[in-house]
Amino acid sequence: MLKFSSEHAFLQEDIMGYQPAVSKYHDQLMNKTGLGNDFVGWVEWPNCYDKEEFARILKAAKEIREKCEVFLVCGIGGSYLGARAVIEMVNGVYNDAKPEIIFIGNTFSSTYVAQVLKHIEGKEVVCNVISKSGTTTETSVAFRLIKQYMTKKYGEKVHEYIYATTDAHKGTLKSMADKEGYETFVIPDDIGGRFSVITPVGLLPIAVAGIDIQSLMDGCAEAYKDFDTADLNKNIAYRYAVCRRILEHQGKVAEMFVSYETQMAMVAEWWKQLFGESEGKNGTGLLPCSVNFSTDLHSMGQFIQEGRKCLFETVVKVEKPTLDITFPSDSENLDNMNYLAGKSLHWINQMACLGTLQAHVETGHVPNLEITVPDMSAHSFGYMAYFFFRAIAMTTYLNEQNPFNQPGVEVYKKNMFKLLGKE
Ligand code: PA5
Repeated sequence: MLKFSSEHAFLQEDIMGYQPAVSKYHDQLMNKTGLGNDFVGWVEWPNCYDKEEFARILKAAKEIREKCEVFLVCGIGGSYLGARAVIEMVNGVYNDAKPEIIFIGNTFSSTYVAQVLKHIEGKEVVCNVISKSGTTTETSVAFRLIKQYMTKKYGEKVHEYIYATTDAHKGTLKSMADKEGYETFVIPDDIGGRFSVITPVGLLPIAVAGIDIQSLMDGCAEAYKDFDTADLNKNIAYRYAVCRRILEHQGKVAEMFVSYETQMAMVAEWWKQLFGESEGKNGTGLLPCSVNFSTDLHSMGQFIQEGRKCLFETVVKVEKPTLDITFPSDSENLDNMNYLAGKSLHWINQMACLGTLQAHVETGHVPNLEITVPDMSAHSFGYMAYFFFRAIAMTTYLNEQNPFNQPGVEVYKKNMFKLLGKE
């Protein structure tokens, strides 16, 4: 269960003024009659995902965990961010989980790619190459390098160490997988990359990380039930969607995703793609940006407090930390920190959050929206992901834009291909 509240004085009548539009777009979303209706497969997915394929994911994950030291996840954008967000949120940044999981195929940085290739030398490696189109250049470049390394190592058995997640029927990766005999998983046609963390795209790497993917899907299904209404007094995803539009009309141009948990940093990156690619069209939309507090209070805090009043914050709070520590007493107290002795580090973090909220809202006049999740479990992620899916679909429809395409992403590719000499 997730909670949504606001530290900004929205008028109930302003919110309810959106009810007719919200009801209209809710119907369009559910009946697949709105803009981009070819890509709304995620709406019903928590109830209708392929259970046989799900069982195959669990089986493959078990095998992968047994046969490798390093698991390479090769993909970019929607074929990368979700898995990384969940793995870091649930397992933490430093952990003893085996195998080691490395993300590649998300950059042309020669140094990064070369360092990964050097790092895996001599190790048992499995690769999951993920691409819906099957032609994304960053992913294809990295995959060829990995494949050559793995072919040298595993010879004719190399296909047993490569898993491909791609379109069911078409694309270069699909043809290659069929020819080479890789086990494949399907990215549904009607689910776009940034909504695909709840499909095999996210689920296989997440399961390899030892995370309970059934619980993640159960969280999604629970959210589906909770948000299966257009009523703004009941549907907090739509309420959040409306609050964003009201703040935009009040002159805000940016939404800052704030978290107080270091291991939520990649969730913010995932959220930025989901919101930025869905909403930023035809000169409309809020710029999605993020900070991780209290770390970034020491870098971005000044701007938020006293800089241009262009943004509002959406604070994602975690009620129960995965781990906690009691701050110890010290008989000498040379650091003068005994005033915190006996307090939990999570409580200190909560006080930092409260103090910041007061500073930003009351003194800095920065509107704050608050989302509270119970913990950093797979279930909570599943619920939260579905909350954000529904919210971004609605809020983008309210701007009369198609939430499910990304025509702008093609522009750099065209130029790059020309420069690279691609026919
Ligand atoms: O959301 C999207 O559609 C994009 O971010 C894609 O996921 C990204 O470009 C990778 O595409 P593909 O999975 O086709 O390699």
